[in-house]
Amino acid sequence: MRKVRVCMQVNGLRIETEVDPAQTLLQFIREDLGLTGTKSGCENGECGACTVLMDGKPVRSCIILAVEADEAEIITVEGLAGEEKLHPVQQAFIDHSAVQCGFCIPGVLVASKALLDRHPDPTEEDILEALGGHLCRCGGYKAMSEAVKTAAGAMAEQVKL
Ligand code: FES
Ligand code: FES
Repeated sequence: MRKVRVCMQVNGLRIETEVDPAQTLLQFIREDLGLTGTKSGCENGECGACTVLMDGKPVRSCIILAVEADEAEIITVEGLAGEEKLHPVQQAFIDHSAVQCGFCIPGVLVASKALLDRHPDPTEEDILEALGGHLCRCGGYKAMSEAVKTAAGAMAEQVKL
């Protein structure tokens, strides 16, 4: 099949390459770029495991074609941390022991970052709405919700400094 040229920014790096027109963004991220932090679950848009940020919004990369991300800015879980520090939401998940098997966590973390970028002081309802579409078989929603609240507080402190 004829390949299609795409350019995108992934975790701050400009990528210019050719993709199969039928390749999903999830396949491109995991298989071509080797960024396996983004998980492949249902591959049907339902579980949230494959969530990445596309131009700042959480999207399910299993139901988006790589060609649809042409010229987009993509952030995966690998792009959340700074050079020396975890993102506050990552640190809060550790501090609240909100990670059990971990399979859903990359998608939950990027969705949480998107929520906090949009709502710096989210209510519990906002948090549950943002995370509700992410299936966690370990049932860790309470700890996750508390972690997002803590991250919101930490980010507000950073803004004051
Ligand atoms: S793997 Fe994409 S939503 Fe489940
Ligand atoms: S931590 Fe195991 S599926 Fe969510």
